[in-house]
Amino acid sequence: MSRFRLLLTRRLPPNVEARARRDYDALPNPQDTLLGPEGIAERANSHGADGILVCAGDRVTAEAVANLPPSVKVIATFSVGYEHIDVAAAKARGIIVTNTPDVLTEATADTALLLLLAAARRAHEGNKLVRDGEWRGWHTTMLLGRDPNRKRLGIYGMGRIGQAVAQRARAFGMQIHYHNRRPLPPEQALGAVYHDTLESLLTVSEFFSINAPSTPETRGLFDAERLALLPPGAIFVNTARGDMVNDEALLAALKSGHIRAAGLDVFAGEPNLHPGYAALDNVFLLPHIGSATEETRDAMGFAALDNIDAVLAGRVPPSPI
Ligand code: DGY
Repeated sequence: MSRFRLLLTRRLPPNVEARARRDYDALPNPQDTLLGPEGIAERANSHGADGILVCAGDRVTAEAVANLPPSVKVIATFSVGYEHIDVAAAKARGIIVTNTPDVLTEATADTALLLLLAAARRAHEGNKLVRDGEWRGWHTTMLLGRDPNRKRLGIYGMGRIGQAVAQRARAFGMQIHYHNRRPLPPEQALGAVYHDTLESLLTVSEFFSINAPSTPETRGLFDAERLALLPPGAIFVNTARGDMVNDEALLAALKSGHIRAAGLDVFAGEPNLHPGYAALDNVFLLPHIGSATEETRDAMGFAALDNIDAVLAGRVPPSPI
């Protein structure tokens, strides 16, 4: 019996790629080159793909969708974020789009805390001092940071990941405030203080974490005016998407000290981030590795394949968008 044909746009973790090859006539991308919208459509046509497994950096534009062969039934992204896919264009062609929520919640929340602590405790400066051989010994005022204990953490986007960030931050003695479209039920809020506007949340947030998706409404949301609402000396963390932040505004706030430090895992235009960040000592930078653990990346890949399996078997996939 002929097998369904699957296009893999990127190299995948070995366990995931093995399952894809076992269950499908899979066209892999061993060089792991970014295919771009034209490349994705081209390969989908040459392979006669029934499904496409894409990743966060792949741009599945309306044009790419329009050029896909009629055989394509499903586009499954190996990510929770799906701003890189023109979902409306896919739906208009009857193509189901799926993502991988839940499985990366804990790893991403861990990364948010890693960034929060690294920024607050000046991890970049300390690491540099030791590696550069410039450390001259312990003294009482060397690299003083800020305690998270008893501070207010504002979480923008109290979904699965936001709640997991809150759970971890409580263990560091932080008081949780949040903004969402609607307040959470008490059993989920667990005492977190709801703000009905982002502006209200910003004004109380000694620490601030973005945990909301990038959408047309949230792109560029964190501009100079909104960042100015943070209390002086605030610490800013982003594990969501870089395009929600105006880089010039954040850099100006970091340079003036209005924002004391930032921990950033995501950037507009990745991997070509604004060069201003690397020039600042009060920013702790990671290369979009929020979900990058062996366990989580396997789980994300398996979740994407579960979605593809379901669609091609005529069932409702576990995580349709
Ligand atoms: C996601 O799943 O959206 C992560 O940011 C990885 O891209």
